[in-house]
Amino acid sequence: MIPEPPSLRRGVHLLARGLGRSFEGGLVPAVRRADLEVQPGEAVAIMGPTGCGKSTLLAMLALLEPPEVGELVLDGVPAARLGSGERVRRELVGIVFQFHYLLPHLSAAENVLLPLAGSALSAQQRRERVAELLHALGLEHRARTLAARLSGGERQLVALARALVNRPRLILADEPTGAVDSATGKLLLDHLFAPAGGGTPSIVLVTHDPAVAGRAHRVLPMRDGVLPA
Ligand SMILES: Nc1ncnc2c1ncn2[C@@H]1O[C@H](COP(=O)(O)OP(=O)(O)OP(=O)(O)O)[C@@H](O)[C@H]1O
Ligand SMILES: [Mg+2]
Repeated sequence: MIPEPPSLRRGVHLLARGLGRSFEGGLVPAVRRADLEVQPGEAVAIMGPTGCGKSTLLAMLALLEPPEVGELVLDGVPAARLGSGERVRRELVGIVFQFHYLLPHLSAAENVLLPLAGSALSAQQRRERVAELLHALGLEHRARTLAARLSGGERQLVALARALVNRPRLILADEPTGAVDSATGKLLLDHLFAPAGGGTPSIVLVTHDPAVAGRAHRVLPMRDGVLPA
């Protein structure tokens, strides 16, 4: 195998100004106003009570939910001009969802392989990258296990591997340690903050756990749909 060159991965500069999104025709104002700037390589934790809009905000930052108001700018380019959200996610963003969303009928390794569809890597390189990540997360013995048969914590680790496999420059993680014991949580966070492949991605992390938030450079409180500047 030819070794890959040292990673030049650099975190994305993220700027969100006045982002807002509601549901049910405006009856549920999930995010009223979110202002956030993340410097390249910076890790920011968002904390706030259940229902205050954290997951909805992350979905907007991931270009999964279009904001109704406000602007999202990545590396100086308005998100609206970045092309399809799918491409941006494939090339820039790794997402650890609150409810992991693994495909239950695929194995752990197949789930981790998914984001590499369309990448420039050869089939062999893809397999190696998946195997390396599963090994690093202590999951090589589960590689062929169907996601439906994994434990909750194992699923969370596989979901992290899937988020990291394309070496994202921006990692969005929604309560990534919600279902794991403290030792697994530490392993998971170690890989989140220093992902395989090197470099320093930017990180936006949502958590209810102050110890997890404490690993970020900054902790931002969110309340009632408002993330103040
Ligand atoms: N698809 C949806 N349709 C309707 N309402 C929604 C939808 N998604 C979220 N909401 C509502 O928007 C509000 C914010 O939800 P969100 O999931 O962003 O909160 P959260 O801060 O992530 O909460 P938690 O800490 O429990 O994960 C809640 O009142 C929720 O019921
Ligand atoms: Mg949530």
